[in-house]
Amino acid sequence: MKNIIEVKDLTTSYKNRIIQDNISFNIKYKEIFGILGGSGSGKSTLLSTMIYLKEPVSGSIKIFDSDIWKVSQNKRSIILRKCGVVFQFGALYSSLNVLDNVGIMLKEYSFYPKKIIDEISKYFINIVGLPSYVKDLYPHELSGGMKKRVGLARALAFNPKILFLDEPTSGLDPQSAENFDKLILKLRDHFNLSVVMVTHDLDSIKDITDRFILLDNSKILFSGSLEEFKHSEANKIDNLLKSKRGERLWKEE
Ligand SMILES: Nc1ncnc2c1ncn2[C@@H]1O[C@H](COP(=O)(O)OP(=O)(O)OP(=O)(O)O)[C@@H](O)[C@H]1O
Ligand SMILES: [Mg+2]
Repeated sequence: MKNIIEVKDLTTSYKNRIIQDNISFNIKYKEIFGILGGSGSGKSTLLSTMIYLKEPVSGSIKIFDSDIWKVSQNKRSIILRKCGVVFQFGALYSSLNVLDNVGIMLKEYSFYPKKIIDEISKYFINIVGLPSYVKDLYPHELSGGMKKRVGLARALAFNPKILFLDEPTSGLDPQSAENFDKLILKLRDHFNLSVVMVTHDLDSIKDITDRFILLDNSKILFSGSLEEFKHSEANKIDNLLKSKRGERLWKEE
């Protein structure tokens, strides 16, 4: 299967502190790809670099065969418009209701009249499993899980090919997290999405990711599928799997 993203020899840092040290990995078309690692291991930093928010020190990130840090601005805009992002903390506009939050990208970048934008937004509010009354609520009136779904609806409304999710299930109770994971699977199949998901939720890794990388100490400690992970010999992986939260990875259902 063709790669949709290729990260090669990537190094990132804040001032002199190296966060990623010469890492490489590929993401395939229609794959749900996990970026896993402990808190502070650099997951969000890596994601920011992949979506053109944080400049790398060196290396390349190719999305649809183009190095997003090297291509012309025009080409980059075209690429980035095919990338939907759901940020770690929702990043909804507190002064806008849900309907306008979901439609914001269309308002900025499309020529649709407001009426059509509202219709598209309502469609995606429905697609992510929210009841229609939610469209009139403001972010402070939403539960954590609802905020995540609104963020997802907003990312989907611009018809992305790749969806970047930063900790989509963190802060959710196990049932809501599981439901959210199922929704991601459904959306991947429905919209033919490739999904890049930052998570430290081991259940998500088990349930929906096809492959993942495990970040540790600025490097990739492991890269591959869950099956390969289980047979890997690295010590730290062993420790993780023996931990309480890692137990479920072993259980067959
Ligand atoms: N803007 C910044 N300026 C300086 N250092 C930063 C900045 N953002 C993150 N860092 C540092 O970079 C390291 C990686 O942070 P990052 O947010 O990428 O981790 P993470 O894996 O996403 O963590 P979490 O699971 O808690 O979200 C941390 O040590 C953090 O303190
Ligand atoms: Mg983070």
